[in-house]
Amino acid sequence: MFETLTARTTDSILTLMQAFRDDPRDDKIDLGVGIWREPDGTTPVFKAVKAAEQHLWRTQETKAYVGMLGDSAFHTAVAQLLFGQAPQRMAAAATVGGTSAVRQLLALTRVARPDATIWIPRQTWPNHWALAQDLGLSAQPYAWLDRAACVLDRDAVLRDLSGVQAGDVVILHACCHNPTGADPDPDLQAAILNVLQRNGAVPLIDAAYLGFADTPEADAGWIRQAAACLPEVLIAFSGSKSFGLYRERVGLAFVLSDHAGVVQSHLAVLNRMDFTFPPDHGARVVTEILNDADLRRSWTEELGSIRGTLRTSRQRLAQALRAELQSDLFDVLTDQVGMFALLPLDETRVAHLREVHGIYMVGDGRINLAGVTEETCPRIASALAEVMRGRG
Ligand code: LMR
Repeated sequence: MFETLTARTTDSILTLMQAFRDDPRDDKIDLGVGIWREPDGTTPVFKAVKAAEQHLWRTQETKAYVGMLGDSAFHTAVAQLLFGQAPQRMAAAATVGGTSAVRQLLALTRVARPDATIWIPRQTWPNHWALAQDLGLSAQPYAWLDRAACVLDRDAVLRDLSGVQAGDVVILHACCHNPTGADPDPDLQAAILNVLQRNGAVPLIDAAYLGFADTPEADAGWIRQAAACLPEVLIAFSGSKSFGLYRERVGLAFVLSDHAGVVQSHLAVLNRMDFTFPPDHGARVVTEILNDADLRRSWTEELGSIRGTLRTSRQRLAQALRAELQSDLFDVLTDQVGMFALLPLDETRVAHLREVHGIYMVGDGRINLAGVTEETCPRIASALAEVMRGRG
């Protein structure tokens, strides 16, 4: 049967993750996959997660199936975080991480509107494109970053989005835009929602980095605005980064709609077709943390400290590049937020940095600021300056 197949690769991020693991050099530097790392390279478990797991271990008496949509207490706890309070007209389904939340929402779109166009920012998480394509949906890019200036191209975003049609779906990043770190300001957020409202399009808001730009509640601000002004909103929540629960696969698909009951029945069928019951352990940990004042405080404090470290890394790299290049082009790094920045590098330069300097970043020039530490920054800045000056 399988002689007909040719080998496939996963996307650029996961391929890079493997290449980094396989590189025997001791001084290699990982600026690739979107995982938080302490300056010593470790990704520790949040203290609140440990405590919630201990509590679960002591009190949980069964591992029997929960239900195809997951635990309703999990839906409510995350909905309160996202919306302030759980909306009435809400359908929710726990999923296998954020990836499957995006997938189920696109699959739901395919059921409801097979001819919808999915609008995806030109720079985005590569899996947005792959998922739309895998589901046979037609997709269309819209502008985001001006690559040369490294800033959000506001006019181009609005110009492109003015072409959305009723029933189309527009993928937005709730905060910490991946891969650019360039988030819209409140004016642009409102302007984008206005276009969607005028044209009758539906946002699919990917919320994978809540707590990395500001507090998790503040980072949910755009979601709250969308919920307040649009009749239908799709939200894909991931607990991977915000709770450090990467391998537990914590995700939730939310749909706000006047037809929430019917939508929920479709989400249940989509889950049944894919995996029947979503994973429960990580979801329960998140629920415990959100519902317990002490655990929640500890979690937000740890997130706050991660944010502070990322901000310092941004300042450190901007300053080092300013000194190396005698240019303020990279000062913009300090205005951007979250784990990522997209540097104006082509694939040849990215390959040079990897092969010659052992510095790993995604092929489009995305770096994870968590890897820019006091120790690694001078090497990163001087290698970047070398390729930027065209010597690499
Ligand atoms: C990333 O963007 O690096 C992460 O979201 C990991 C992934 O699944 O691609």
